[in-house]
Amino acid sequence: MSKNPIIQHDILGLMHINAPAEKKPVLTVTEVEKSFVTPQGTISILEHTSFTVYEGEKVAIVGPSGSGKSTLLSLIGLLDTPTTGMVAIDGVDTRNLSEDELARLRNERIGFIFQAFELIAPFTVTENISAPLEIAGNEIRKEHIETLISEVGLEKRSEALPFTLSGGEKQRVAIARALANHPNLILADEPTGSLDRETGEKVLSLLLDAVDVHGKTLVIITHDASVAARMDRVFEIRDKAVHERS
Ligand SMILES: Nc1ncnc2c1ncn2[C@@H]1O[C@H](COP(=O)(O)OP(=O)(O)OP(=O)(O)O)[C@@H](O)[C@H]1O
Ligand SMILES: [Mg+2]
Repeated sequence: MSKNPIIQHDILGLMHINAPAEKKPVLTVTEVEKSFVTPQGTISILEHTSFTVYEGEKVAIVGPSGSGKSTLLSLIGLLDTPTTGMVAIDGVDTRNLSEDELARLRNERIGFIFQAFELIAPFTVTENISAPLEIAGNEIRKEHIETLISEVGLEKRSEALPFTLSGGEKQRVAIARALANHPNLILADEPTGSLDRETGEKVLSLLLDAVDVHGKTLVIITHDASVAARMDRVFEIRDKAVHERS
């Protein structure tokens, strides 16, 4: 966003100079390093990794297999902690939070969508979508769940169990579930990776529409250049660090 002031004229033709609203950082990653200790020794996956994602942005993370994309998403999603460095969500530095505080932040601010759907097998579509609200101890309003179900076009399958759903349908449940708690940040790890091209395209469009409708921020891992091209910015993991593509 330009730092230039916006000049507006009021009803009397008087000129006003308004500073543009500052962009709100939803995710700040600062000098993050991640290494794993293995029987073969310590392996370093990410080094000197810093970037910021602002409210309402859609960002792709790309990079070769094994480059650390899922590792980075786990750090952003507070499922794992960096070896050094900071991850802040909505301006909250997560370094000194307890496990309970991390779990609460994760549940309230972040929605996850995974390649392999990760639905809860004995739960119906409705129950899967309600699960984040249940976990947070939030009120489950029937209309809210019904709206989500119709947004992803699963009205006729609301009482179905996951094993009876197609891949595309499962991923639509996962999208609705990721939105249920009104999280600010949606994280998706190859959400169309296990779908055929046509279904993947439909599911992606649905996800992008939902992110727009709900005014959310999206970070999506993808191997697919055409998916990356639909995002506002693209970050590439190369040489163990994140580089923004221009
Ligand atoms: N818990 C762990 N312990 C040891 N090594 C790990 C661990 N988790 C990930 N790695 C290693 O870190 C590297 C990055 O893994 P990651 O899953 O982040 O890659 P990726 O970019 O998501 O790959 P893909 O595109 O295949 O999903 C890999 O070499 C992997 O083996
Ligand atoms: Mg991965």
